Amino acid sequence: MSTPEELHDVRLHVNGSVHEVQVPARRLLSDALRHDCGLTGTHVGCEHGVCGACTVLVDGQPVRSCLMFAVSAVDAEITTVEGLTEPDGSLSPVQQGFSDCHGLQCGFCTPGFLTTITAGLRDNPDPTEDEAREMIAGNLCRCTGYQNIVRSVLRAAEIGFEARSAHTSTSDGGQQ
Ligand code: FES
Ligand code: FES
Repeated sequence: MSTPEELHDVRLHVNGSVHEVQVPARRLLSDALRHDCGLTGTHVGCEHGVCGACTVLVDGQPVRSCLMFAVSAVDAEITTVEGLTEPDGSLSPVQQGFSDCHGLQCGFCTPGFLTTITAGLRDNPDPTEDEAREMIAGNLCRCTGYQNIVRSVLRAAEIGFEARSAHTSTSDGGQQ
C-alpha cells in the first residue's frame, strides 16, 4: 500500500482575499489557483512556461504560474485576471482596451495577456507600437494575429492616461 502524499497548509493571498488550502508540495500555483481557490480565470496551456496563458502577478511582477509551486507563493500578493477590475467593478484600462479593440477571439490566451500588459503598462505607461509588441512578446495567441492585441495595448495606455488626467483634475478641484 502506498503512503498518502503529505499535504501542506498553505495560505495564499489572492486578489485581496486569503485562501487557506491544503496542497501537496508539488502542486503548481496554476493548479492551486484553479482547483483549490476556484479561480478558473487563470488558464493553463502548455504547462511548460512557453505560452504565457497562466501568467499572474506575484507581488506585482508577471509570473508563469505553471512554473511556480503553490507552497512558494506563501506571503506573496497574487493578482489573477479576476483581480484586475477596478474597485467599483468596472473594467480596468487594459480590459477596456481589449474590449474596445477586439483584442481577443477565443479568449484562451487573454487572461495571460491582461496580466502581462497590466504590469507592462505600469512600468511603461506610454509605449510606442514597438514597445507594445515587445511587451506581449512572451505570450502566445493562436487566433488573433496579434494586430488587435497591439492596438489594445495602445488603447489601454490611452485610457490609463485619460483616467490619470481626470483624477488629477478632480484632486486639484479642477483648477487650471
Ligand atoms: S501554461 Fe504556463 S506558460 Fe503555458
Ligand atoms: S484569442 Fe484564441 S488563443 Fe488568443
